[in-house]
Amino acid sequence: MPDMSGKNGIITGAGSGIGRASALAFARAGARVVIMDIAAEPLEETARLIREAGGAVETMVGDASDEDLAESMVARAVDLWGSLDVAHNNAGIGTAATPFTQQDRAVWERVFTLNVFGTMSFMKHELRQMEKQGSGAIVNTSSMSGKNGSPGLSPYNASKWAVNGMTQTAALEYAERGIRVNAICPGATFTAALAEWKESSPREFEGYTSAIPMKRAAEPREQEDAAVWLCSEEAGYVTGTLLDVAGGEGILGKQ
Ligand SMILES: NC(=O)c1ccc[n+]([C@@H]2O[C@H](COP(=O)([O-])OP(=O)(O)OC[C@H]3O[C@@H](n4cnc5c(N)ncnc54)[C@H](O)[C@@H]3O)[C@@H](O)[C@H]2O)c1
Repeated sequence: MPDMSGKNGIITGAGSGIGRASALAFARAGARVVIMDIAAEPLEETARLIREAGGAVETMVGDASDEDLAESMVARAVDLWGSLDVAHNNAGIGTAATPFTQQDRAVWERVFTLNVFGTMSFMKHELRQMEKQGSGAIVNTSSMSGKNGSPGLSPYNASKWAVNGMTQTAALEYAERGIRVNAICPGATFTAALAEWKESSPREFEGYTSAIPMKRAAEPREQEDAAVWLCSEEAGYVTGTLLDVAGGEGILGKQ
């Protein structure tokens, strides 16, 4: 585990799944974290787990697509601890599978509002602060869906391609200024939605995971380990990387 002692960070969508795992991991590595989620109780539970383990944490409840909240969350970390060194922009939503021709524009807008404009807003204010410092590392949660086509999931798929695009553009714009920007691209990860799917449709779930080269979904901690590493000094020469954390899914058919 990299050493993040003395580092200050923010994590969005930290009330459950990958975001909670990431918040716990950054704190375990020694970082002080401001965490946010739209759901107050799960967020408080994440904070409780961090405090119980001896970590320093502050919470903010709100919508990660709100640019004012993004600005004030960055300001909160800086006011409390003096800098913003690491950021994990993780909050995102998916959609029910629907053929392209039956997609509703309102669904596209809902998905883009959070996944694209939310991520963009957080990056903008994180980068402004990191630029003042001349240092910092950002990791966005993208998806393998942002590298491939995903039948039935067009709004989600396009939103994650957008996340990958803004990750690489920001990486190039800030490469000379001491700031690194990367993304994790999770494959199927065993969070609440996947657990529900396994429960309700065990045969489909089995069929899906058996097509993954490693024959299983990821655990959230496997995503969090990658996110912490990308923000650590050990990854000091890594920027603009869209890191598959997907059990080999990304290289299927590409040999
Ligand atoms: N689980 C997977 O298989 C998988 C695969 C690829 C990518 N991802 C990505 O990982 C990220 C996290 O997903 P997860 O599986 O951990 O989901 P999750 O549902 O377990 O957690 C998402 C968290 O985000 C919060 N949230 C939702 N809308 C929000 C908003 N508007 N503002 C702030 N918080 C909000 C939820 O309350 C929840 O705590 C997402 O960006 C998702 O697209 C997940």
